[in-house]
Amino acid sequence: MANTEKLVEQLVTKHGVCRNSLLPVLQGVVKEEHFLSDVAMIAIAKALDLSSADVYGTASFYSFLDTEFRGENIIRICKTITCKMKGKQKIVEVLEDHLKIKEGETTRNGKFTMLAANCLGWCHKGPVMLVNDDVYPELDPEEVVEIIEKYC
Ligand code: FES
Repeated sequence: MANTEKLVEQLVTKHGVCRNSLLPVLQGVVKEEHFLSDVAMIAIAKALDLSSADVYGTASFYSFLDTEFRGENIIRICKTITCKMKGKQKIVEVLEDHLKIKEGETTRNGKFTMLAANCLGWCHKGPVMLVNDDVYPELDPEEVVEIIEKYC
């Protein structure tokens, strides 16, 4: 049995074979593999006795459940109006230059994916980025590389 299928089996054993387990199982796979592959979604559908369309529909509904390959660390930079006015573009440029990728891309070594995000709820302290679950408010272009280096 492949690693992804083993992981799905473990998660289903932990959460139980019922529809309510779908979200925690999807989250568990994303936590380990950083995205939901077709193999994972098919294995989840089989294990929970759901249709693949049902699993894919749920996975694609939530923005935190990635269905495309992502790096080990996901950087989400708020693109909404307040952060835009407070200088998010400079933050994006510094990161693009440092990581040699554009927004939406993953570094060659698979360490980072950089994404634009809608409001992260920290508008009063923009510009804001998330690295995985860590929030970085009031970003300064001078400090952003130092922050990212902590995840290397
Ligand atoms: S506008 Fe950026 S966190 Fe709300």
